[in-house]
Amino acid sequence: MDSFEWLNGYTVGYGFYHVDFTDPNKPRTPKLSAHFYFQLMKDNGFPITEDEKMLYGEFPQGFLWSSATAAYQIEGGWRADGKSLSIWDKFAHTPLKIFNSDNGDIACDSYNKIDEDIAILKQLGVNHYRFSISWTRVLPDGTTNHINEVGFRYYDRLVNALLAANIQPHITLYHWDLPQALQNVGGWENDTIVQRFRDYADVMFSRLGDRVKLWVTINEPYNVAMIGHGYGVAAPGISFRPGTLPYIVAHNLIKAHAEAWHLYNDKYRGRQNGKVSITINSDWSEPRNPYKQEDIDAARRIMQFYIGWFAHPIFNGDYSEMMKTIIRERSLAAGLTKSRLPEFTPEEIKRIKGTHDYFGFNHYTTVLAFPVDYGNLQHYDADRGAGTYVDRTWLDSGSGWLKVTPFGLRRILNFIKEEYGNPTIIITENGVSERGPTDLKDSHRSYYYEKYINQVLKAYRLDNVDVRGYTAWSLMDNLEWATGFSERFGLFYVNRSDPNVPRVAKESVSFFSTIINCNGFPDPASGPHDCLKPIPEGNSTSAPENDNSVNFLGLRLSPEEAETGLNTTFALLLVAATGAICFRCRKKMSNSDKLTTC
Ligand code: NOJ
Repeated sequence: MDSFEWLNGYTVGYGFYHVDFTDPNKPRTPKLSAHFYFQLMKDNGFPITEDEKMLYGEFPQGFLWSSATAAYQIEGGWRADGKSLSIWDKFAHTPLKIFNSDNGDIACDSYNKIDEDIAILKQLGVNHYRFSISWTRVLPDGTTNHINEVGFRYYDRLVNALLAANIQPHITLYHWDLPQALQNVGGWENDTIVQRFRDYADVMFSRLGDRVKLWVTINEPYNVAMIGHGYGVAAPGISFRPGTLPYIVAHNLIKAHAEAWHLYNDKYRGRQNGKVSITINSDWSEPRNPYKQEDIDAARRIMQFYIGWFAHPIFNGDYSEMMKTIIRERSLAAGLTKSRLPEFTPEEIKRIKGTHDYFGFNHYTTVLAFPVDYGNLQHYDADRGAGTYVDRTWLDSGSGWLKVTPFGLRRILNFIKEEYGNPTIIITENGVSERGPTDLKDSHRSYYYEKYINQVLKAYRLDNVDVRGYTAWSLMDNLEWATGFSERFGLFYVNRSDPNVPRVAKESVSFFSTIINCNGFPDPASGPHDCLKPIPEGNSTSAPENDNSVNFLGLRLSPEEAETGLNTTFALLLVAATGAICFRCRKKMSNSDKLTTC
């Protein structure tokens, strides 16, 4: 219990119990730590929870194992061979939009590296590769007025090379790089975009659909609507109507997706026999306090405003009652004549509902939810009426928003099963980042993949979730949008300071490829298992450079070395200026932190 702490008197409490020294009875109240210690003693240690226990077993035959990239993040060749500019080219060339002024002008140079990219996919052992098309490489002004054959040929060659390597292409039509020419006429805000997107899809289905059997229309519509048009920290960078514009943009994204799906269904499905869907992203949201109704409600609102915003119209029909009611009531209360959430007509509801051949799903992390009252503020966040935070014990990653929370993946897969009619699910992205000096020993990534994929196995085997595929984000380190190259999600490191931009396997490559090779997690008790034998190393050998290096007086140094150099230079200048014969320096000794005099 808190007690007399010598020189500090009663001001410092070391106790499990708080003691009220002002009360003559000196009552003792247990602190949270008392409960924690009680549990620890009861458990006699730290038993692993059900969530944490490994499940041994396999995925179904024919499970889709894949890794993903996106055009703007890897291709480079930003003006090569007739490609015109996208909103990301423009955004990245606007000062202060991207960390460290990075841009995708060259990126991983994948536009010139088909062979290298195929080689690393083979090394990984995936049977699918998810990549996206740069709209402006094929249709420079965004319309079918002019098809840029040279640009198109890149994708044609890539698809052929993948098939020759026995890797199935999984193509995303829209991964955020809208033609700037279309942005100039309103972009996703202008409903003519629906027809433009359908035309673009038509070109791609007609030219590649004989060989490509899996399509994603739009990647992460939530991010396009909210990050690009609400918070404005992604292209096109609009943030001044956060209570209306994201809803208009989302409305057009949903319609554009539905029209592309119908186009495929009516015109191509018969002879091409592929599958088309949208990829929706969402965090899993847990109530901050699972026993508090307000927190439970806040967590539900987060789900309906995040995954539900897009999944409800496409899988169930129309926006959820929750979204419609909250936004209408808050709009009317603010004196508007109608809801800020656009309405679908009954015909549109019918046309959009069911436009999916699978549930494409991107997932990374979990949040804890609690209610927040924003008053009259007309903003998506205020409509949602919830705040989020994270448990400080969750492991970190290189991205502030991404905490390692494997349990959330199984829970959200079950949520999708229950909410959206038990659809076939393909996980189209999942992965983890790092930042700081390059280190090929990325044990945190192997840990992440092992734990998350095991939760997918539990969802499949124990909960009967119809999950048919898993895609690791990302095949290689690439441009992580507004954070530039500083956050790295790659299984392969990309040495961008070498003119050949070589790809180098991180340690997680062999870890992930073993999971693929075994099609899951074989039980050690029933071993030995051939699939666990080490897979021969690839041929990427170029040593990594420290990407964090800084230029100091013409030398490439690590930040620590540069700091030492700066201090030394400063000290020498001081000596020269004052003529002092002695100065004190702070010297951190190897076994103590004492100040020494030199
Ligand atoms: C989602 C996006 O689709 C992808 O482009 C991005 O790099 C990853 N998540 C990681 O943030």
